[in-house]
Amino acid sequence: MNFIGGKWVPARSGRTMEDRNPADLDDLLGEVARSDAADVDDAVDAAKAAYPEWFAMPMPKRGELLRRIGLLLENHKDELSHLMTREMGKTLKEARGDVQEGIDFAFFMAGLSRSAIGETMPSELSRKFSLTMRHPIGIVGLITPWNFPIAIPTWKQWPAMLAGNCSIVKAAEDTPLCAQRLMELIDEAGVPAGVVNLVQGTGEEAGAALVSHPDVRAISFTGSLETGKIIAAECGRQMKRYSMELGSKNVTIVMPDADVELAVEGIAWGAFATSGQRCTATSRVVSLHPEFAGALIDKVRTYKIGPGSDESVDLAPLINRTQRDRVLEYIRVGREDDGASLAYGGSALTDGVHAKGNYIEPTVFLDATPSMRIAQEEIFGPVTAVIPVDSLDAAIAAANSTKYGLSASIYTNDLTAAMRAVTELEFGIVYVNAPTIGAEVQLPFGGMKSTGNGFREAGIHAMDEFSEWKAVSIDFSHRLQKAQFQPGE
Ligand code: UN1
Repeated sequence: MNFIGGKWVPARSGRTMEDRNPADLDDLLGEVARSDAADVDDAVDAAKAAYPEWFAMPMPKRGELLRRIGLLLENHKDELSHLMTREMGKTLKEARGDVQEGIDFAFFMAGLSRSAIGETMPSELSRKFSLTMRHPIGIVGLITPWNFPIAIPTWKQWPAMLAGNCSIVKAAEDTPLCAQRLMELIDEAGVPAGVVNLVQGTGEEAGAALVSHPDVRAISFTGSLETGKIIAAECGRQMKRYSMELGSKNVTIVMPDADVELAVEGIAWGAFATSGQRCTATSRVVSLHPEFAGALIDKVRTYKIGPGSDESVDLAPLINRTQRDRVLEYIRVGREDDGASLAYGGSALTDGVHAKGNYIEPTVFLDATPSMRIAQEEIFGPVTAVIPVDSLDAAIAAANSTKYGLSASIYTNDLTAAMRAVTELEFGIVYVNAPTIGAEVQLPFGGMKSTGNGFREAGIHAMDEFSEWKAVSIDFSHRLQKAQFQPGE
């Protein structure tokens, strides 16, 4: 169903789409609305009607609503996590983490609602006072991915709301029910009708209609670089704001002095958590450590692969068959075209408990080189490529050699190597002795180069995506004062 102006409604066309469990494709969770431009028009009208009241509400009051939503998410954490595992596939532990990220960020933004949001500065003229304040953009469109069905929508939703915008969410078509539950809780918290709206459907139909609607003044998108470019072009044509969180090719450097057990643990977690379906996944390792590769393979050998609902499972299924086949194609490219050596995994699992799901073994390539396709392109699956190098300079150069720049890390106890990595890596997020995944909500999240267009989600600057700066000057001298002129001129 769509959520428009505080009401649950089907798509005007009556069309629906299926929602299936990635661990068991026979398990149909439901049929959801497949919307088009007519539904987007309705949602934009509802958002416009709600805007004046929401704009007028003091920011701490909006923050109070976010606090209530955070409490509701906490009360429903278990239920939401189970729904997420069934709908998206990730393990229950990871689903709980996903919901927790949304809770943490709700409370963080609620706190921010009572903090300074602008600056005061002196004027060059007497009896004149200057300050900056944020102004909402108005009606914004939020296009969210399936890999973090609660956390990522909340990274967009809370700052959009706090800044005073009304929004229309187009949720990923693979995780519509998580989006629906989130809307229900926002509604239950007492957010006025029309402030948040949900339009379910495909990117080509509902998403495109949202992006091209002239009254939607900003689009926040998380997804592939390919789709991001299409959205950015349309937003550019209409001179509307767009913030993009796109693909990446993250990397961990393992120095010769690294604690190899710690590095293996961190890299296995970074590469294979969420089956590698994170924008932050460790899909490359640049290694200077002679024992690292063997130790990683020993670790991966112990992995249990199965449905995320089984608490003992390490690796859960991929989101859908298309994605599974895309990852298998990359594994073929790695072996045949690139000529890297496949050291572990590489196949789909289709036996027993795996028969009805989208499973791929954890896959490790060794002896990769920085320019291979598997070392350059985002795979979004449980695949990592180890690139051997012989110096820190070569490691940093290899790490920086892709068009992306979201998350990088280094394992070392050498202060100079750590500081050089921190300083020279062209990535928006850098970790020392920690994996590339696991960002915390009080830090800015976003990437350099083709990973984005300069905005950051989460952190204290989260409202930048969803507000304009207004420069305000108040002259209480009761005479005409001219900036940049000498007195009397
Ligand atoms: C993503 O994959 O787009 O840092 C988000 C992490 C998580 C968020 C990932 N906190 O891995």
